[in-house]
This record gives sequence, structure tokens and C-alpha cells, in this order.
Amino acid sequence: MGSGEAWVVMRTGRAPSNIAVIKYWGKRDEKLILPVNSSISVTLNPDDLSATTTIAASPAFVADRLWLNGKEVSMESQRYKNCLREIRERANDVVDEQTGVHIKREDWLKLKLHIVSENNFPTAAGLASSAAGFACLVYTLAQLMGVNERYQGELSAIARLGSGSACRSLDGGFVKWDMGQKEDGADSIAVQIANETHWKDLVIFIAVVSSRQKEVSSTSGMQETVQTSPFLHFRAKDVVPKRIKEMEDAVARHDFSSFARITCADSNQFHATCLDTSPPIFYLNDTSKRLIGLVERWNTQEGSPQAAYTFDAGPNAVLFTTESNSSLLLQRLLFQFPPAPGVVLSSYVVGDLKTLELAGI
Ligand code: ADP
Ligand code: DP6
Ligand code: CO
Repeated sequence: MGSGEAWVVMRTGRAPSNIAVIKYWGKRDEKLILPVNSSISVTLNPDDLSATTTIAASPAFVADRLWLNGKEVSMESQRYKNCLREIRERANDVVDEQTGVHIKREDWLKLKLHIVSENNFPTAAGLASSAAGFACLVYTLAQLMGVNERYQGELSAIARLGSGSACRSLDGGFVKWDMGQKEDGADSIAVQIANETHWKDLVIFIAVVSSRQKEVSSTSGMQETVQTSPFLHFRAKDVVPKRIKEMEDAVARHDFSSFARITCADSNQFHATCLDTSPPIFYLNDTSKRLIGLVERWNTQEGSPQAAYTFDAGPNAVLFTTESNSSLLLQRLLFQFPPAPGVVLSSYVVGDLKTLELAGI
């Protein structure tokens, strides 16, 4: 790399969102982002819910800058700084194929970056944009700077420093984030427990109830819960460890009844800890509650789980059912939320993921 040369090298990457079926909510270490309990998630189809990030490096840039969904946002947060630092420290010599520019590993420490990221789904609305966003940032940075994982999960551990849930977005299928025990977080890692082809007839619907940005971010919401909710500590210690084992077992056996029962119970318990927070946090709205009612009534009528729901920190629902039941679920959704002027209700299928937009409230 010579000084005064005008060149730009860039890379683009894409990473999917993931939705937890056993929720992460609460940190034992804010800086290292270590959770109070383990969690399990399903990685979504990147064609539907993903972040796409382009990163450019040039000696002409004077500062690291980030544009998210078309608007510049500050990179002052320690989370961005930590991810950038960890990748820069692992950078290698790179010869850029397109420009022929040779960048030495030590050059990456000085080179400033311009980062542009777009989410193809609502940001900060409880569909895990922070997971897709930071997984994508770390993955794309690693591509740009020629970073190879020295051990399985190294990039996931760096993504965790951006947002806890991001550590689960670097693998497809079902992913477990083990809380770990060590103070330095070395054993707080994400592992794939089943790949994306493991459970072929599991169908996922995303019901976009509202695209509005949530009032309480996940980061500050869980901070308040850790500080004020006695229930959270009971959940983390006495409930989640057992549920993690049961969920792993249900996934391994394709046991939809157990999967659905645990998924709904864990979503409800997570929202109960939000209510147990002082002041209480409400992420669900009336449409979310109608969706819960719809699934619960169906399951009660049939005497066994036909579908399951889960809500992250926002009103938008993720619904699960089996292939053979998916048209019945769709019928019930259409009955409850009939298409009407001014109300968007659309459904499309990409792979096994169907995305619905319901009447926003
Ligand atoms: P969500 O439920 O969508 O994960 P959070 O409150 O956890 O909401 O996180 C939202 C924050 O994550 C955003 O305000 C932004 O700081 C960060 N974020 C979201 N998408 C991206 C992205 N594509 N690239 C970088 N950061 C992102
Ligand atoms: C409800 O990972 O967004 O979606 O680590 O502070 O960035 P930070 O929080 P974040 O929290 C996710 C909470 C959740 C549950 C989950 O994804 O497990
Ligand atoms: Co998030």
C-alpha cells in the first residue's frame, strides 16, 4: 500500500437473522456480553430476513463510518469498536483481485472503513436485526481482511461482542449458545445442534405486526430486567437448563409437540420477566395477543400442538407448524386477519419460510 494512492477495495456479505426458541435475556457480563442462561435459536432463510453489508477500505477515508438503511449512524459505540478491533488484529496480507492492490496485515490497522448495511426486514422491531447485522459485519470484515478462523466459532465469538444473539447467526439450522462458565467468556460459544436440512417439514411463518422501532432496545431492556426482576434469576437457574435439554431432544427427534410446547412456554416466560421488570416492559401488542389466542385455541381444540408462536423483544410473531398443517394455519390467519382496504396481508413462500404482513397496530 503506497501513500497518496487513490484506490478502494470492497467486499459485500449477507447474514441471516435468527429467532430464539429458548430466549437469551440478561447478561452476567456487559462488556464481554456473557448471558445469564444458554439459548437455542432457529436461523432464518437469508432470502427473507437478512442483513447485507458492503465494506470499503481506502487510504482516502479519514474515519470509520457506517450507514444503516440509508442513514449514517455513529460508530462510537464500544460494540462496533470491539468487532472492528478484533478483526483488524487478525488481519492478513491481502491482494485484492479486482484492483490488484496489495494490502499488508499491518496496513489494516490504519486503513479506515466505510460500511453500508441494509436489512431486508424491520430494524429494531424484535426480528433480531442486531443478530443479522453484527453477524454480517463480522463475517464481511473477515472476508475483506483475509481473516481465517483459527478455531471453529472464532468469528461467532467476535460477533457476540456486537450483539449477543449475533453469535447464533453464523450457522444455519438450529444453534445453541452455551452460556459457559469461564470469566473470560472462552466457553460461551455458539454450536450448531442440527443443520438446515435436519427438520424438513418444519414450516416457519413470520408475521410482521408492526415495523415500528421498539421503545426499549433489547440491550437496555435486559439490563433493567437483570437489575429489578427476581423472576429472571429463578428462570435462568431453575427453568432454562432443563428446557435446553428438552429442546435439544425435541429437535433431535423431530418431536413437534414438545418443540411447540417448550417454544410457547419460553416465549411467554420471557415476556413475563419483562412484565416483572420495574418499570415493566411491554413488547407484545393487541395483535400479538390475538395471534397467541389463535394458536392456543387451535391447539386446545385438537388436543395437541398444531402450531407454536414465539415473540422476541417486539410485537412481531414467528409461528411454527408442520408442512401438512401449514395451509390450515394460513386459513386461520386469514380468517382472523381478513384482507381489507388499507390492511396489507400478503404471503409468499421462499423455501419453507412464509412472511405475512398483518394489520399493524
Ligand atoms: P432487534 O430486535 O432488531 O435485534 P435490537 O434492539 O436488539 O433490535 O438492536 C437494534 C440495533 O442493532 C440497531 O439500533 C443497530 O444499532 C444494530 N443493527 C441492526 N441492524 C444492523 C446492521 N445491519 N448493521 C449494523 N448494526 C445493526
Ligand atoms: C429477546 O442480542 O439483541 O431476541 O446482546 O444486548 O445486543 P444484545 O441483545 P440482543 O438480545 C436478544 C434478545 C431476544 C432473545 C434472543 O434472541 O435470544
Ligand atoms: Co437484537
